Amino acid sequence: MGQPIRIEQATKSYNGMEALSPTSLTVAEGEFVSIVGPSGCGKSTLLRIVAGLDSATKGRVSIGTRVVDKPETDVGIVFQSPVLLDWRTVLDNVMIQAEARKLPRDLYLKRARDLLGAAGLDGFEGAYPHQLSGGMSQRVSVCRALVHDPALLLMDEPFGALDALTRDQMMVDLQKLWLRSRPTVLFVTHSVQEAVFLADRIVVMAPRPGRVEAVIDVDLPRPRRLSVRGTPAFNAIVNEILRHFQRMGVIRDDEDDQSTPQDAEMAL
Ligand SMILES: Nc1ncnc2c1ncn2[C@@H]1O[C@H](COP(=O)(O)OP(=O)(O)OP(=O)(O)O)[C@@H](O)[C@H]1O
Ligand SMILES: [Mg+2]
Repeated sequence: MGQPIRIEQATKSYNGMEALSPTSLTVAEGEFVSIVGPSGCGKSTLLRIVAGLDSATKGRVSIGTRVVDKPETDVGIVFQSPVLLDWRTVLDNVMIQAEARKLPRDLYLKRARDLLGAAGLDGFEGAYPHQLSGGMSQRVSVCRALVHDPALLLMDEPFGALDALTRDQMMVDLQKLWLRSRPTVLFVTHSVQEAVFLADRIVVMAPRPGRVEAVIDVDLPRPRRLSVRGTPAFNAIVNEILRHFQRMGVIRDDEDDQSTPQDAEMAL
């Protein structure tokens, strides 16, 4: 089960330039929060601060009762590109996390195989990264981030490089994996639809220097099916988010007002 995150007035400046304005956010244990915002608004910066990979210039972050002041260990991170080790098999790439933490090998081998199966990678345990598609590699990196059962999962545009159909499958697979162990998740994406499909709540960020513009509840039952995207309740949330971006001038309707939500997503 996940750990709660408390971000209190976290600010980040680089060389005196503010990249992240004071940002506060509380995430409940086991909650899935998506973060959407324009490029350069500080999403990756915020994730790095929560992971303890970077420090806030002001303010603080706590996970559970601990203040984050060094790289977290009870965390799984998935980046935009999968960063697998070429010379290790799929199974051994997933096992890196267990090895680094000196966890019992037999137990975690079983867990790694189990996760790979749940992610649709049965039969690929012995394959090498060059034998995988982009989507399969990214699935391996999601399994690697989850194998040690971290309290916290941080994902920074993990599906950004994948085609639309593969992204759909990844969303469904991620939801399934998350429902099994319910880590607390911060998920950064440029896709408003992806954010809504996955999240319990959505954080809408304002342009640089970033800050939290709005937090929106996603009250749709789980497990969610891809067809939820056609429902009025889903589209109402997507449109609410897009209205925030329109109001902030991040996206603009064409004068003849023919632009679609898909066009608007391209602008993010
Ligand atoms: N190491 C750094 N040194 C100086 N400036 C930085 C550094 N890292 C980030 N920045 C600046 O901080 C701002 C926020 O960067 P960040 O990578 O967090 O944005 P982002 O929201 O993740 O953008 P994207 O959606 O394009 O990934 C940017 O304007 C960037 O120029
Ligand atoms: Mg980023």
